[in-house]
Amino acid sequence: MTTPLLVQALNRQPLVRPPVWLMRQAGRYLPEYRAVRAHFPDFVQFCLTPDAATQVTLQPVERFNLDAAIIFADILTIPHALGHTVTFTEGHGPHVQPITHPNQLAAMQNLLEQIPHRLTPVGQTIAQTRAALAADKAVIGFTGAPWTLACYLLDAKPSLGIPNTLAFAKQHPQEFQQLITLLTRACNAYLTMQAAHGADALQVFDSWALLCPPDLWQTAVHQPLLELSAATPLPTILFPRGATPAQLLALAESGATALSLSTGHNLAWAAETLQPLTTIQGNLDPALMTGPAGVLESALLTMLNTAAPRRGYIVNLGHGLTPDTNPDNVTLLMETVRNWRAPGSV
Ligand code: CP3
Repeated sequence: MTTPLLVQALNRQPLVRPPVWLMRQAGRYLPEYRAVRAHFPDFVQFCLTPDAATQVTLQPVERFNLDAAIIFADILTIPHALGHTVTFTEGHGPHVQPITHPNQLAAMQNLLEQIPHRLTPVGQTIAQTRAALAADKAVIGFTGAPWTLACYLLDAKPSLGIPNTLAFAKQHPQEFQQLITLLTRACNAYLTMQAAHGADALQVFDSWALLCPPDLWQTAVHQPLLELSAATPLPTILFPRGATPAQLLALAESGATALSLSTGHNLAWAAETLQPLTTIQGNLDPALMTGPAGVLESALLTMLNTAAPRRGYIVNLGHGLTPDTNPDNVTLLMETVRNWRAPGSV
C-alpha cells in the first residue's frame, strides 16, 4: 500500500523532495471556487454540504497536483455545533454569537455530546474526498484550537483585539478554564469523528495563539494542543500562530508530532532546534504569493535548502493564502518544489 508522501514526512522518513500543501488552498483566489460558492448564501451550510465541500476540497489538488487535500470546512463549525450562530458577510469576515455571561456555558455543555452527530457532514466530506484521491495523496482533517475558538466566542473579531476574552479569564478564572476544557472535549470528539471517516493526518489551528498572555499560555494553549495531538492515533500538526521560540520548543520537547511555523519564525533556527525533535511545516510568507515570480522562486529555494535536506519537513506557508493570490504563483511553487532534490540524491 502506498503511504501518502505527507504521512511519510510526518513519520520522519527520508524523502527525495518534501510534500507540499498550502493553508487556505481552497478559496476565493480560484475562479472555480467562487463559482461553487455563489450557490451558497450561507457559508456554514456550504461547509456542511458534503458534495459541494468535496468538490472545492479537490479543486486545488486537481489544478496544482498538491500532495494533500485539506477538507473544506471552517474552524467555526464547532461554535456553530455548540449553539452559537455563525454568520459570514462578504468583506467583513465571520461573526460568532458571543458568550456574554458565564451562565451560558451550561447550554454549550449540554450540546457537547452531539458534536460528532452535528458535524457528521464533515466526516462524509472526508470519506468522499478519500475515495476520490490517489493513494499517495493525503486527506487532512482539522479543527480550531480551544484558545482560538474561545477568542471567537468571547470577542466577535479577534483581529481587532480580545478585550472580552482577557476580561472573562481574569474575572471568572474557573469558568474560563471550564470553557477551555469544554472546547477541548468538543475538538477531541470532532477529530475522533474525522479520523473514523478516513483522514490521514490532522491539523489544529491556533490562529490567535499570539494573543495569549503568558500567564494563560500553559493551560489555554500548551496543554490543550498536546491533548488534541494525542486525541487520535493520526499524526497531528499543531499551528500555534506567532508562538515564541521558547513556546515552540516546549511543545516539541513535550512530544508534538509536527509544528507549523508562522511567517515571522526563523526557519534556520527551527531547522536546527526543532526539526531534530519534530516535523516542521512552513513558513513561506503568503505575501510572496501575490508578487513577482523571481522573488517567490528565490525565497522558495532558500526555504527548501534550509529545511528540506533533513527528515521531517513539509512545504507550506506561514499563514493562509489570501484572495489576491495569483494562481500562477501556486503553479510556480509546485514546479520549484517538485524539481528540487535533496543534496546527494539522484
Ligand atoms: O483550504 C483550506 O484551507 C480549507 C478550508 C479552511 C477554511 N477556513 C475555509 C474558508 C480552513 C482550514 C479554515 C480555517 C480557519 N477559518 C482559520 C484558521 C486558519 C487561519 O487563517 O488562521 C480561521 C481563523 C478561520 C475563521 C475564518 N473563516 C475567517 C477569519 C474567515 C474570513 C476570511 C476572509 O478572508 O473573509 C473565514 C472564511 C473562510 N473560511 C473562507 C474560506 C475559503 C472564505 C469565505 C468565503 O468564501 O466567503
